[in-house]
Amino acid sequence: MCFIIRVSLVIILYATASANSVDNKVFKEYCWGCHHETSLAFGPSFQEIANKRTVGEIKGHIIAPKSTYKQLGYKRSVMPSFKDKLTLQELDEVTNFILSFKKED
Ligand code: HEC
Repeated sequence: MCFIIRVSLVIILYATASANSVDNKVFKEYCWGCHHETSLAFGPSFQEIANKRTVGEIKGHIIAPKSTYKQLGYKRSVMPSFKDKLTLQELDEVTNFILSFKKED
């Protein structure tokens, strides 16, 4: 009995935690040190990126910044590649998270 209650508690906790953080888990873990949502940090803000880039440009830069930075107008690139760190699903999620800051102005 006690065991069943413990197991369900763990499942409930796990489900709530992942529902809240499914979009920005990757952001908090890998990107936040250099990018903030709407203000300039070491790298450009996600809002600035969302306003001027396509899905392809964003994903391309996350996977292979050394091959896209010139095309995006940078003179050099210091951002690490996340090709081996993110699953395809995480890449989609973090790209959607970036694009959610898009603002018409
Ligand atoms: C070590 C710091 C650093 C980390 C960590 C980092 N970035 Fe960057 N990012 C930069 C810098 C600096 C630039 C500017 C161009 C460059 O250096 O490649 C940039 C550029 C970008 C761009 C293109 C900007 C544009 O003008 O379109 C995207 C998209 C991006 N980062 C997404 C991410 C995501 C998503 C993560 C986390 C998975 C991340 N970055 C982690 C520093 C970082």
